[in-house]
Amino acid sequence: MNCQIVVIDFGSQVTKLIARRIREIGVYCEIVPFQKVTKSFLKKSKFVRGFILSGGPASVGDSHSPRIEKKLFEYRLPLLGICYGAQLLCKTLGGVITKSKDREFGGAKLNFKKKSPLTDKINFSGKQNQVWMSHSDVIERLPPKFEVVSQTQNNVNAIFQNVEKKIYGVQFHPEVTQSIQGKKILKNFVFNICSCDKDWNVKLLKNKIINEIKQKVINEKVICGLSGGVDSTVVASLINLAIGKQLFCIYIDNGLMRKNETAEVSKRFRENFKINLIVRDASRLFLSRLKGVVDPEKKRKIIGKTFIEVFESEAKKISDVKFLAQGTLYPDVIESVALVNNKQLTIKSHHNVGGLPKKMGLKLVEPLRSFFKDEVRKIGKTIKVPDYFLQRHPFPGPGLGIRIVGEITKKRIKMLQDADHIFIEQLKKFGLYNKIWQAFSVLLPVQTVGVMGDNRTYEQICVLRAVISSDGMTAEPFEFEHKFLVNCAKQIVNNVRGINRVNYDVTSKPPATIEYE
Ligand code: XMP
Repeated sequence: MNCQIVVIDFGSQVTKLIARRIREIGVYCEIVPFQKVTKSFLKKSKFVRGFILSGGPASVGDSHSPRIEKKLFEYRLPLLGICYGAQLLCKTLGGVITKSKDREFGGAKLNFKKKSPLTDKINFSGKQNQVWMSHSDVIERLPPKFEVVSQTQNNVNAIFQNVEKKIYGVQFHPEVTQSIQGKKILKNFVFNICSCDKDWNVKLLKNKIINEIKQKVINEKVICGLSGGVDSTVVASLINLAIGKQLFCIYIDNGLMRKNETAEVSKRFRENFKINLIVRDASRLFLSRLKGVVDPEKKRKIIGKTFIEVFESEAKKISDVKFLAQGTLYPDVIESVALVNNKQLTIKSHHNVGGLPKKMGLKLVEPLRSFFKDEVRKIGKTIKVPDYFLQRHPFPGPGLGIRIVGEITKKRIKMLQDADHIFIEQLKKFGLYNKIWQAFSVLLPVQTVGVMGDNRTYEQICVLRAVISSDGMTAEPFEFEHKFLVNCAKQIVNNVRGINRVNYDVTSKPPATIEYE
């Protein structure tokens, strides 16, 4: 790969989406926090063909707002500023940004004043003319030698350019799907303006990844925590292709898995891969420690800590292990931008086995560190990981533990497993499963009155949740046909003892979260 676009991150919630979109159109893209864009960074970036300045929560007028070195403008590579990034470009080059009275949030339409390489051959007629805005400052005056390409219906400057210098700015967010032609705008920037070649294809990277694992591990042993989800399964099968029998996978049943999950995952794993697989049923230990616990954070901590303990005790049974394999993805390693004092950089880490490598003195193998989840699915497909693993909805580490609101008991686990199984089977039957990011059932800790036959019931509520999302950061409820939900409710109440009412959750994230705890 000879071309790269760098996204300079100023802390927007959707920065990751910019990199995803660029990679989706076939060009490698990395995210770099704004503090790292220094002279030496610029010198090292020999494959970089252009920079995108992300949005961010700050206001360019604030004294502590994030900036970048002016060197970037002398570097003569194309620049595209998005929202805050556009305002920063503008201000740095001599334009004027002002605070507007009203925050503009949501869809807007563009009125075009000028032609632009950024909008070349894009159809903005009718429904295609929608871009997504989220800003409170506005670009009052452009820098000298810049021109307005389009404004919104409220006369807000929405696209501006200096074609000669290859500097462009958009006030809206082309990276979100609500900007209907956003991806085409990014395509124009990457191919027409930055002259990138389309040379990023994860499918071609299979051999490179496998060779890197071989070179790193040589003839040592590797252990891998396996959940049966996309990431851990793809990691295990890549490592298996690289080093075969030196890999030992450990699957821990914490008693909070979905119905028949442990049996099915281990069966399918053994059928499809010739891998050393250890399955440990630790459900009694987990459930005894969770007895009487209702606080979500306490549940999470207990489950996480117990997982590490059990994993460690299983791993110790295998002698001379040197490496731990993890399914860390690119979104997990992107350094997040801390804007409070402009200094700290934090790296998010939310893997279930986070504490293990240090504790056990193990080195890490993380072959998916550079990839987004959709890319991991593509890699999985090229190495023939079955769709059963690749298409599964994300499942949280604490499992049903955070979907049973209130106390976790064996009876409530069974109730939720049965209800959830019915819901998921219905989704599969009607061809809906793969249209949904994540679907599951939740058990609430309240009882309500019902009537069955001639008897009054006083039983629990099951909530069905199904969301569409591209990365779990934001989510919208899936729009089912009413009949489908009515049928699910009927089946659940008729077949699961203890549940007499079924609700469907229609809340987006934000303000709600996907999970209940
Ligand atoms: P929320 O509920 O935060 O979920 O909107 C976003 C995504 O993260 C998953 N999730 C978790 N995954 N451990 C995990 O491994 C957790 O504690 C956890 N909590 C939420 C959730 O399923 C969704 O995909």
